[in-house]
Formats: sequence, structure tokens, C-alpha cells
Amino acid sequence: MPAAGPMSGKWTAYLCLFSTLSAVFTPALAVKEHDFKKCVQSGFCKRNRAFADHALGTSSWESPYNVLPESGTFKDGQFQATILKTINDKGETVRLPLTVSFLESGTARVTVDEEKRQKGEIELRHGSKARKERYNEAEQWVIVGGLGLDKEAKVASQDKTQITVQYGPSSKFEAVIRFSPFTVDFKRDGSSQIKLNDRGLLNVEHWRPKIEPPPPPEKKEGEEEKEETPEEKKEDPSKEDESTWWDESFGTNTDTKPRGPEAVALDISFVGYDHVYGIPSHAGPLALKQTRGGEGNYEDPYRLYNADVFEYILDSPMTLYGAIPFMQAHRKDSSVGVFWLNAAETWIDITKAKDSKNPLSLGIGSKTNTHTHWISESGLLDVFVLLGPTPHDLTEKYAELTGTTAMPQEFAIGYHQCRWNYNSEEDVKDVDAKMDKFKMPYDVIWLDIEYTDEKKYFTWDSHSFPDPISMGKQLESHGRKLVTIIDPHIKNVDNYPVVAEMKAKELAVKNKDGNIFEGWCWPGSSHWIDAFSPAAREWWASLFKYDSFKGTMENTWIWNDMNEPSVFNGPETTMPKDNLHYGNWEHRDVHNLNGMTFHNATHHAVKSRKAGELKRPFVLTRAFFAGSQRVGAMWTGDNQAAWDHLKASIPMVLSQGIAGFPFSGADVGGFFGNPGKELLTRWYQAGAFYPFFRGHAHIDARRREPYLAGGPYTTIIASALRLRYSLLPSWYTAFHQAYVDGTPIIRPMFYTHPSEEAGLDIDDQFFVGNTGLLVKPVTDENRVMVDFWIPDDEVYYDYFTYEIIPTSKGKRVNLDAPLEKIPVLMQGGHIFARRDRPRRSSALMKWDDYTLVVTIGKDGKSAQGDLYVDDGESYDFEKGQYIHRKFVLDGKTISSSDAEGRDVKSIKKGDWLKRAQGILVDKIVVVGAPSSWADKEVTVESEGKTWTAKVDYTAAANGRAAFAIIKVKASIAADWKVVVA
Ligand SMILES: *[C@@H]1O[C@H](CO)[C@@H](O)[C@H](O)[C@H]1NC(C)=O
Repeated sequence: MPAAGPMSGKWTAYLCLFSTLSAVFTPALAVKEHDFKKCVQSGFCKRNRAFADHALGTSSWESPYNVLPESGTFKDGQFQATILKTINDKGETVRLPLTVSFLESGTARVTVDEEKRQKGEIELRHGSKARKERYNEAEQWVIVGGLGLDKEAKVASQDKTQITVQYGPSSKFEAVIRFSPFTVDFKRDGSSQIKLNDRGLLNVEHWRPKIEPPPPPEKKEGEEEKEETPEEKKEDPSKEDESTWWDESFGTNTDTKPRGPEAVALDISFVGYDHVYGIPSHAGPLALKQTRGGEGNYEDPYRLYNADVFEYILDSPMTLYGAIPFMQAHRKDSSVGVFWLNAAETWIDITKAKDSKNPLSLGIGSKTNTHTHWISESGLLDVFVLLGPTPHDLTEKYAELTGTTAMPQEFAIGYHQCRWNYNSEEDVKDVDAKMDKFKMPYDVIWLDIEYTDEKKYFTWDSHSFPDPISMGKQLESHGRKLVTIIDPHIKNVDNYPVVAEMKAKELAVKNKDGNIFEGWCWPGSSHWIDAFSPAAREWWASLFKYDSFKGTMENTWIWNDMNEPSVFNGPETTMPKDNLHYGNWEHRDVHNLNGMTFHNATHHAVKSRKAGELKRPFVLTRAFFAGSQRVGAMWTGDNQAAWDHLKASIPMVLSQGIAGFPFSGADVGGFFGNPGKELLTRWYQAGAFYPFFRGHAHIDARRREPYLAGGPYTTIIASALRLRYSLLPSWYTAFHQAYVDGTPIIRPMFYTHPSEEAGLDIDDQFFVGNTGLLVKPVTDENRVMVDFWIPDDEVYYDYFTYEIIPTSKGKRVNLDAPLEKIPVLMQGGHIFARRDRPRRSSALMKWDDYTLVVTIGKDGKSAQGDLYVDDGESYDFEKGQYIHRKFVLDGKTISSSDAEGRDVKSIKKGDWLKRAQGILVDKIVVVGAPSSWADKEVTVESEGKTWTAKVDYTAAANGRAAFAIIKVKASIAADWKVVVA
């Protein structure tokens, strides 16, 4: 759901939009780039870029930040000292407390604060109560673990100029903290990986009193206004641009800045690294581009400032709806990363430079360094440094800090059918019935804003939805769910108890004067719940109780949209930065956290709808921050029904995965506009491989439920949906791994094959979990072929035909991909699970038997894989109520054992686990089975019993691998062994 883009800022236009639902709303325009700031229009970004240019352009530049040597102490894994910042020619300084923490995980953390100043030294706007501290609560919202200090960290050397600390696993990490100027050099195995302030761009804009400009000299009668000569107007390049220190305008909005300039910025260099990834969300390639101009580069820095970007443009560093300030650098066989914990508006410049230390090497053996420059508007300087060395190490350590993906209910990874809007109960029931009629499995149907009584959340339009429970019950009869939208803007209108209560209890965000903030969103005039406030969250939870939000039931779940927050008449379509939140923090300090706190409040609210109801909540969010993965799923916002948006969705979803928030997807079909049938079909084929799989459409888009496409499209889309459903056991297993240690669900080549340099820029194909399924969706019109890049020497089989792909490591190989075909290869060496019986919803598959697919590796005799299963809805899995199997093929034996080496017999079985004992591995399909298996029997041994089964063998032919089908019929929950005679 977008901001009312083309009408932004025009009240009259809003009024017409709100008064007629069918308002003409032409989505043909691209985002108005000028509605969003460029660096040059953002005072602190412009200042810091200028600072960088000045520093880098001055050969004698010396960073004015020096550690007071006598201030330093090292104790229990932590170095503390004071940095003095020299602020003028007179040598005056301000004191910045420095803490460098070495954590048990091997992660290091560098924090720079500013000493609290004397009362009254910072002039605040009259009557307001904005805090005079640097915002230091981001940690409270974001970090959930991993902060234990490494007591083994030790000082390797120390003198008046520096201190060297050894830390991390086997003390192979080292931090060299130099004092004058302050820099930190992080080394692994003796060589530099990441350097802080190496280029001297550290800039903590210290607080200063506001000096009122002298009043203009009085004009004498008759005297002409004296014009400044152009000479006088020219700015002195060494002088800071003070024009945006105390207030700053953009469009018609003026941001008042009671604390004045207070940005924090730092250069972070990745030594010897020429690829960087992460910092979603942006619509661009997975491997981040350079940002200071030049051919093929961006002109502007990557921006992180959650915003409702109406019809976003592609291949751009512009900000989008969510922000994760986690960046990973990669080169052959080595990965390192930084996590910049700051929730204010942030810009990141990226440049790359050849290291030309040895002029005689003529570029041979010279390496590329990636230089980054991080600039945040306010708050602490707080950066975590992760030294890898693998991409998996980075995602795991990052997850230790910010948490992992919440284990979803199984339905949440099925297919979701959405549009703005399903108009009535009959409409919903009809779509539900038609999906069945056309044999299209799906789990969830969604209601956008129109289901409410005039955009008052927690109400229903009684005309169109007189009996929502009857609708919920029809869905429930097939195990299906309903998702309703609930946004953070609360309609400002009489006779609406929700808004009355929120006002009375003062639970809304305030404006700079401390009064309730009023702005415009879907309902017209609105107020915004302040989810930073514990009382507000508690109140929010009360609204979701079944007797409060009437018409909802246990299969109703929630969608949080517009939580950047989107404010139609606000600066950049969001909230004024000088608004005030709980604790009197300015919105400026917490902007990027806002969406997460709201999403989290909703997650906890639905979790507590009824005492004793312990179903895992499903809540989708549009805005997010580091940590949002703990409470739900996200989607990439309001995309367009265009081929290039389909293409762009792949790197965007991959980027979410490596940045710790893998439960993500793009709107299938494209939100704005009308996809042609080929595009819609291809989008379903790609969407079947997004971790979050939802079709959605704008209110002005034509109906496009997948059964409407007509032949042959409907059939092809139905097969894509069924493919998703048959692979749900493997998806669920991949989600479980993400839940355990933060591993991405779909994985780019650099992640799975970190030694292959040629794969570092590839972002249009990916592996699914540990299945070995390599997918490359078709994202071009009229394309009937794709070229896979093959990352290793394994054997690859076509998923559908078992054809052996003739290829070798590093080669590209063409695969035919007519419209009915999704290009999916199976890498040899894996075993993965499917459920092959087509059903209407995932709930109806709950007790179905499994098929295991074994893809024999290049050695001709081995493969392995795993399967995780639980009841798919409750938290009983936290108490051991799950099945986690490891499958191994070794020569002629295929075996199943507990993947975690548990003594499963000793686990007391609840209802689900008891019944699950009866679920079977119906059959095993062995692709690439050796010819010696032909006509053989197998012996199956399980739980003290032995029986035999036949090998149904099909010999290799015409490039297709041989395969064997064995009807095993052993319990999925038990140990077993299948031996080929
Ligand atoms: C989520 O909500 C819970 C319950 O109100 C609260 O304790 C926690 O701090 C919140 N976390 C975030 C990230 O908002």
C-alpha cells in the first residue's frame, strides 16, 4: 500500500481520494525522486561528504581525534578511554568516552559517546523536553545476546602510542588501537582486515551552544539595500557549512533542531576486499556499487531512512521501507563484516581503490580495498566488527547479536492470496472456492484496508463484512487463514473508542511542542501509536483480544503496513524528525526503529489474544530494522507489474537473507499495474522460490487471481503452486536452520561457494536451504532458455527430467526453459524431502507421508540431507516435540538417524509427536542410482523389524540419469536403514 504519491502534499487531493474509493489514481509515473532527499539536501550528509573531500584532498590532513593515553584501561575484555576531539585552532577539546569491547563470540564492538554537558549548555526549544543525551537505547531494542565479554582477551603490547589486544577463537584476532590520531586496525592471523578511521573521516559533531546571529544593522532612511558581491558570497572551503545546524527545510517542512548538529561518521576500510554486500533494503544488485560517481557507479550514497517510497525506481541507492545496517565484505576465501548500530537516518558511501603501495608491481598482485564512509544524523557511534572468515560465520555471529528468524507456522510459508481489496465476505468465499475448483493450493487470503469501517482499524465495514466469523469458518474448514491489515495510524474522528482511548492515555507520538501529533494517512487526519512506550504496547495488545477485535478468530493473523511510518503530508512522506517519542527522544533518533517496535507490539499482541493460546503469530511488516526477523516476515513493498521489477526482486530477497532477515518476498505479479499473462506466470514460478510467497495487486489493477489467467497459464501457475507445496518440508527445514543459527533460506553463490571469485557478482540464481536445489527463475520476456553458472564440480541434474547437465565448475550452461518450465537443477550429493500428494492447503498435508529424493554425488555413492518437522503451529517444538532426521547414503546403504544425536526414545511424546510416529517415508527416489541396483531388492531395518522392498529401476538414457524408486514405508520418526542387496 503506497503513499498517495502523485498527490503528495495536497490536502484537496487526499480528500477526493478518501471520499471516492474509485478515485482515479494513475500509477504510470515512477517515484518522484525529488520527493526524497539526495545527500546534498540532507545537511549532515552534505557536511560529512564535504568533510571527507576536504580530508582526503589535504595531504597534511590529521584527524583531530586523539586518545588520552593515560585515560586508557583494559579489564575483563574491555578497553575504555577518553578521546579528545580538538574543536578549534585554540586547541579546545571535547571529551568522547570510548569503549572497545571484545565479545566471547569473537566479535568486537567500538562505541564512542559524548560526555554529558552542563545543564543548560544546550539550548532547547522553549517548552520542549527533547533529551540532551546521545540516543543510547538502540541496543535495548536490537541486541538480544552475544554481549558476554571475552575474559581471555589479552593485551599483547601497550605503550604511550597504542595498545594491541588479542582475542577471539585461539586468539587469532587482534585489534591495534592507535592513540594519535585514534584508529583501530582489526587483524586476523596477523593481517589487516578492517580499519576504522584509517582515512581520518571520524567526525562526531559535538554539541555546541547556539549563537544567535547578530541582528542585521538598521537600515538608514533612504539607503539602498546593499547587495553582496559575488566575491563575498563565495564560501570559504575550509569553513563548515552551518546553514542546516539549527533548522533545515525540505519542501514545505522545516525541521527544528534543538540540539543542533550531532552527526556521527566514520570511515571503515575493508583491506584487500573488492566486494561488499548487505545494508538492505535497496533496489539494486546484491554486490553493492560504488557511490561517488564514475561510470556505472551511483552518485549518491546508499541511504537507510525507512520511507514509503511510492513506485520505487530500480538500480538505485535510494532508501526503501526498511533498514539493516549490516555490511559484509568478501574476497576469495575470506569474509568480514560490520554492523553499525544506529537507528537515525544513515548514509553510506562506498569507493574502491587499488592498493598501489608497490609501484613496481604494475598492478600485478596489487589488491583492491573497499572504503566505506558511514554517516548517521545522531546517536552513538556504535559499530560491531566481525572477522569471519566465512559468510556463514558472519550470519551466525550477527544472529547471536540480533536474534534469528522466528520459527513460522507452516501455513506462513505456503501461498498467500492478497489484493487491495477483497470487497466482501462473498468475494473472499468465492476466491476461496475458485482456488479449490482450479486445484490451486493456498493457505491464506488477505484483507487490505477497505474491510474496515472507514479506515478505523479494529472495526469492519458492516455492509460488506456483516459476519466475518462465517468467512473465517469457511476458511478454517480447509485449514486456511485470514490476514487483516492493521496500521499504526489511528483515525482522528469522534465516536471511535480506539482513538479516544489512545488520546486519553497519552499513548500517541507527540509533536515538537509536546502535543499529540496529527498527520494524514489513509483515514485522513490521524494520530500514531507510540510503540516505544510500554503502556502503549500493553494497550495495543488489549485491542486484539477476541472480544475486543470482534470478527476475528484463531485463524486471523495480521499485516502491518505503513509503519515507516508513512505520513502523507509529512517530510519525505514520513514523520517530522522533531516529533517526540516515549522517553522524550526525538523521532530523529529512533526513526529506523519505529517500524520494528510497532511490528513487535503487534506480534506480542496476537500472541496474547487469549490466555493459553500458544500459536506462533504471523505478522507481516513493511518497515523493519535489524532484529525484525525475530517477530515476522517482510515484503519488498510496492513494486510494479514489470519484468525489471521481477528481475530486481531476486537480489533484493537474497540481500535480506544474508542480512539476517530471510523471511522475505516480493509481491507476485507486481503491485502497481497489470502484468501480462506471461509475466504473471513467470512471477509465480519465481515466487514459488521466495521464502515469503504472496500474490498482491493495487486497487486499480485488474483482478488477477491465478485461476483467471486462462489456458495454458492457469495450469502452469497451478503447477508452480504445487511445486511449492510439495517442497514445503524442505522449506520448513530451511526455516528451521534460519531459526537455529541465522543461515539464509535462499543463498547466493558467494555464500555457498566463497572460494569462487567468478560467483561473487552473480545474483540471479540461488540455492534453496541445504537441498542442493539451484534455481534460476526466468525474468525476461520471451525468454525460453536460461544460462546457469555452475559453481563446482558436482554433478547437476535437471529437477524435472533427471537429465544430467553436461558442465563443469565455472562454466555456464544453457537450459531450455519454455513457459511451463521453472529452471531448477539438483546438485549431486543431497537428500531432501517432499510431500507429493497435492492438497488444498498445508494444514491438510499435516499427516501425509514423505518422499525422499536422493541425488547421488559425483563419487557415485554418497549423498546426505536432513528434514525438520514439528506440529507446524505451537511452541511445543521448544520442548523437544519435533522430528529432526539426518539421511545418509553411503554406497548401498541409506540410513535415517536423529540429526542432533538425541535419544529420541526418551522424549516424552505429546499428541502430535505420538501421531507423527505413523507418518511414513513412503518412497525414496534415487537419482543417479548405479546400474548394479537394477532388479535388486532392498532390506529395510527399523525398530527391530526387517522387511524387503523392490528396487524399481530405470536405466540411464539420452543424457538422463538412471533412477531408482524404492517403496520404503518406514516411519519418518524412527531410525532405519535401507540396504541394497
Ligand atoms: C517487543 O515487545 C515486548 C513486549 O512489549 C517488549 O518487551 C520488547 O522490548 C519489544 N521489543 C521490540 C524490539 O520492540
